[in-house]
Order: sequence, then structure tokens, then C-alpha cells
Amino acid sequence: MTEDIIKIENMTKVYANGEIQVKALKSIDLTIQKGEFVSIMGSSGSGKSTLMNILGCLDRPTEGHYYLEGIDVREKSDNELSAVRNKKIGFVFQSFNLISRTSALKNVELPMVYGRIDADERHERALELLRQVNLENRADHMPNELSGGQRQRVAIARALANQPQIILADEPTGNLDSESSVEIMDIFTKLNRENGNTVIIVTHERDIAEFTDRIITFRDGEVLTDERLRAKEAIPC
Ligand SMILES: Nc1ncnc2c1ncn2[C@@H]1O[C@H](COP(=O)(O)OP(=O)(O)OP(=O)(O)O)[C@@H](O)[C@H]1O
Ligand SMILES: [Mg+2]
Repeated sequence: MTEDIIKIENMTKVYANGEIQVKALKSIDLTIQKGEFVSIMGSSGSGKSTLMNILGCLDRPTEGHYYLEGIDVREKSDNELSAVRNKKIGFVFQSFNLISRTSALKNVELPMVYGRIDADERHERALELLRQVNLENRADHMPNELSGGQRQRVAIARALANQPQIILADEPTGNLDSESSVEIMDIFTKLNRENGNTVIIVTHERDIAEFTDRIITFRDGEVLTDERLRAKEAIPC
């Protein structure tokens, strides 16, 4: 059975700074099914991050519709939208965005503090998540005591803290060497294949995009190509 987890209809995003208006997305239509592994490519300024921010409920469309699991985000208040975001979406950023002077373990625990999970369970779950990204032996390290690739793995563990269905990663390998980039992509592949997560990444590199099953290319705020490399893997029951 397939299920449209993300459906975008005729969506436009306009940024207005005083007199100047930038049309960052122009009447986009896009559907992503539950359990897909997708990459988004396109030159700088083509609208990739704008799309990711809307998909992640950090921003809203100017016109058109975004249905997340069939629900139009337009109907949601800001508070409802941030609740949806915390529950359903895990974000990974190019610059890791870890809290400095806070251990890897505490960084991973943080979203669970907001999720009101008690301290013992938080600790156990954070350790388990660090185990999933092969970093249990770095739990007490501060971010500045970790390599770039390790920091990004902590950031992925943190994104998984509230067990989101969707993982959104905006240039997650942008600051990494090629070896660490492959490690990060292997983790995303595993999350997609074994956990059944819907994973969407932005990248500038074709060989990174080729880890995914579908490559969508943007140009100037529009979808230029939508290419399926292989069939979506079956979602484990
Ligand atoms: N907050 C903002 N206010 C005004 N204009 C913006 C804002 N954010 C983005 N833009 C503009 O919208 C367009 C799309 O930007 P976006 O960040 O989505 O591009 P991108 O494809 O992610 O580029 P990059 O590969 O450089 O990250 C650009 O022309 C940009 O200048
Ligand atoms: Mg961007």
C-alpha cells in the first residue's frame, strides 16, 4: 500500500523584504510517499532550503497547499504546527547545530526534555540512539571534541530522539570530507531501509544524491526534473 506522506499543490513562496519580492518557489506540485528516500538538487538560490523549511513546518507557503499526512498545514495554528514538527519531523543541518559545552549524550537528550520524557528513559534512549550511529563510546564528549562526521552523527541521533517518521536534512554532508559523507549517507540509508523513515536530503553532489532512490532537481524555484533511480524499498512491517 502506498501513502502520500507529503503532497504539495500549486505551492508558491514569496519572500517580501520591503520593496523587493523574491519568488523562491513558483507553483510547485510534488508528492512524496511514506518510506521514500529522496534527494533534492539544484544550483544555489533555486529554492531547495525554502522547500525544506516548508516541508519541516518551519515556514508556511505563500499560496497553494501543503498536505502532511493528508492534513493541510494551512489549517494549523503556529502552536499546532510546532507540535506537528516536534512529533513527526527530525531535522539535520549542514552546520550540525549542536549545543556547545554540552555532551553528545545531553545534546541527544534535549528534544526529549521538551517532549517531557523522564530523565532515566531519556538517558537510556539517548544512549541507544548514539549506539545506532556508532558513537556510544563518545557519549561524554563535547561537540568540540568530535570530528565533523561524528558531530553530524550526534545531530542525526538528536533528530531521531522523538521517533519522527520524516527526516529532513539540508546539505548534511556539505561540511564533510568524502569518507565521512559516505558514513552519513549509510546511516540515512539504514534509517530508510530498516526503520522505514521517509528521508529527504538536499545535496549539491550527484554521487551523494545517488545513494537515494529518487532525485528531484530544482531550477529557479521550479521542479526541473524528477528522476527515479530505483523502486522504493518495501517498508518493513
Ligand atoms: N528569508 C529570506 N528573505 C528573502 N529572500 C530569501 C530568504 N530566504 C531565501 N531567500 C531567497 O530565496 C531564493 C531561494 O533561496 P534558498 O535558500 O531556498 O536557495 P537554496 O536552493 O537552498 O540555495 P543554496 O544551495 O545556496 O543553499 C534565493 O533567491 C534567496 O535569496
Ligand atoms: Mg540552501
